[in-house]
Amino acid sequence: MKTHITKEMFKKILESTQTGRKKYVKISSAHLSGISYLNIGDAGLEFLEDLGRSGLRFRVRTTINPGCVDFDRVFECDPEVVEKQERIVRSLKNIGAKESLTCTPYLFDNPLRKNQKIAWAESSAVLYANSIIGASTNKEGSLTALASAILGYTTRTGIHLRNGRKPRIFFEYDGKLKNELDYGLLGYVMGLKAGAEIPYLRLKKNSGNIFYYKQLLAGFGTSGAAPMVWIENLTPGFLRVKKPLRKIVLDRSELEKERRNLSEEAPSSRDEKLVFITGCPHMSLEEIKGFQEALESVNRLSVEAWVFTSRSTYSEAFRKSLLTELFEKGVRVFKDSCVMHCSLKKGRVHVLTNSVKAAYYLRGALKLKTTLKSLNEFIEEYGGK
Ligand code: F3S
Repeated sequence: MKTHITKEMFKKILESTQTGRKKYVKISSAHLSGISYLNIGDAGLEFLEDLGRSGLRFRVRTTINPGCVDFDRVFECDPEVVEKQERIVRSLKNIGAKESLTCTPYLFDNPLRKNQKIAWAESSAVLYANSIIGASTNKEGSLTALASAILGYTTRTGIHLRNGRKPRIFFEYDGKLKNELDYGLLGYVMGLKAGAEIPYLRLKKNSGNIFYYKQLLAGFGTSGAAPMVWIENLTPGFLRVKKPLRKIVLDRSELEKERRNLSEEAPSSRDEKLVFITGCPHMSLEEIKGFQEALESVNRLSVEAWVFTSRSTYSEAFRKSLLTELFEKGVRVFKDSCVMHCSLKKGRVHVLTNSVKAAYYLRGALKLKTTLKSLNEFIEEYGGK
């Protein structure tokens, strides 16, 4: 039976997230998750097709998360999955979404400014928007972000309230953070301890590489529920914020413990294919350039490397010839897809990754074995001279 979808239904979805007097805030941008056919299945697909037929349209700039297929490499996936993933994207496009298919929409497809009120789903993008750019969004669910995109407003709760951005727990990390993986692990440990509370973070020395914080925030969003992290010397307005009294000093041993929890010995058996996966969240141009430069010192890689990025970043990287070196060394560059790519469902794959978030979900949802390795550790170990 077909569902007739109306605006009233979306109003009720937002209302159900509030108690007491209902208050709303106007938004100027939305970002939707729940795009992958592997996650939403036939029920989600039918709902989106019904929505497309309802005549409702998005009222604000709306981008979408990645699916599970690279539309230029459809032969790698089950044809039914490809067809259904295409229908999901088509439905969303018909309602007015930009076909961004990325979890880093802030880079090209849905740029933000400080203080902008938005309704974004996708935890890593929410954390980046609030903590690095200074925009305001709660960690929306797939349905509340969809409702806000259609209505043009969201509920005045959480981060949109006067005290909603206040940090409640102070983290200090005195040790050295060597690479993107260390930052991801620190974020993951903080999320485990902070739960739903917004933290304030002080590092001994801040990194000059903004994309290390992308990993920190993605790691934090994987284990924690808060929508932002105040990072000293980085988050807009950090000087004005009152530091929480409750303080936790973190050390290296906690990072190593979580690294072990998310890692298995790399396989010695030939039954398992070893693949290095990077780009969770999707790689930026600068990160692709960094990978390209790191590869200059090696002639070949002894295991496959897969890079995930957005189609906008891919086009830009291609135009700037940043992909040539990667292609020459046999690196495969995927776009439109999350690292939970359709082909990983089949084979016996052991994943090496520099992303804590990727390791967590590949283990949990796809039941794959994973080993955490930074990009440089991977190149040192598997790059031949
Ligand atoms: Fe993006 Fe998928 Fe990772 S949506 S953040 S590549 S789990």
